[in-house]
Amino acid sequence: MVSPEARIREAAEHLRSGGLVAFPTETVYGLGASALDDRAIARIFEAKERPRFNPLIVHVPDVEAAAAHVLLDERAHRLAAAFWPGPLTLVLPRRAGCRLSHLVSAGLDTVAIRVPAHPLALELLRASGLPLAAPSANRSGTISPTLAEHVHASLGDRVDRVLDGGPCAFGLESTVLDLSTPVATILRPGALGPEDLEAVLGTPVEVSAGHADGDAEASGAGLRSPGCLLRHYAPRTPVRLNADPGSLTAGEVLLGFGPVKGAALNLSPRGDLREAAANLFAALHALDTLGATGIAVSPVPAEGLGVAINDRLRRAATPP
Ligand code: TXA
Ligand code: MG
Repeated sequence: MVSPEARIREAAEHLRSGGLVAFPTETVYGLGASALDDRAIARIFEAKERPRFNPLIVHVPDVEAAAAHVLLDERAHRLAAAFWPGPLTLVLPRRAGCRLSHLVSAGLDTVAIRVPAHPLALELLRASGLPLAAPSANRSGTISPTLAEHVHASLGDRVDRVLDGGPCAFGLESTVLDLSTPVATILRPGALGPEDLEAVLGTPVEVSAGHADGDAEASGAGLRSPGCLLRHYAPRTPVRLNADPGSLTAGEVLLGFGPVKGAALNLSPRGDLREAAANLFAALHALDTLGATGIAVSPVPAEGLGVAINDRLRRAATPP
């Protein structure tokens, strides 16, 4: 018999080496990976078959750990004191020099962060010493898992470590509250209601009307995702897709994929989609600072992670 402590230590080691570990939280089971590691985050999207790079929630063991990554204002400190550990996610500005992956926040300058209440989640966070990105541990568009068996059934061998902590207490995702703007706004209704938050803040909280989230829709939970409201990172430089290296115009730079010549940057010279996903947002940011007249992008095959990569590139190529 492997002791619970040994299982946690082993899972923490797996996370440190870029692996995925599903773990229980008080809301739903999460599919965890190091939030510092772009490649590990790419593996989450791959395992879930998410067709889009939505920003993910970063889990930390306490408010001090959160403060290393994001800027907490007075409202955030009050809410954290009242509800953390617990099912409240706060969207806050990234700290300057923050080491979190750009893929985890989909290139945004804000980060969604929370301290989960489940003891196994907290032990794993402490043992790994890592901030952990963790969306629900199910394939995209299916019901969120509230038992370890649900995770096995949905993800199978795409996740090689599942910590079993029994049934989740809430069975409903955390409430996502945006504090990056003057008016606190609920982006995703969840385990905590507006009244709970208003009682602590002493001011009204807005509730945004977003689009139904794929996973939540399937569960009938009525959760909404801020997908359509999110100001996703978009480069200021015009983006042109499926560009042939020979077609570059004066002032244009090439973002390559695969063995192409003349690329200013290459998402993955060996044509690896996981590597390309990991590099995508950092590459767009970097090319956007060059003052080029355009960013031409090599074709990326629309299979596996390439679906989400192409979705992101199409949005980047759509004028505002
Ligand atoms: O209960 C939960 O929150 C579960 C458990 C595992 O902790 N996790 C979860 O994570 O639901 P995830 O990554 O699937 O939730 C992401 C939600 C989405 O609605 C996303 O749009 C929003 O958080 N979000 C993430 N980063 C954001 C940001 N920077 N700005 C606005 N919304 C953000
Ligand atoms: Mg989900």
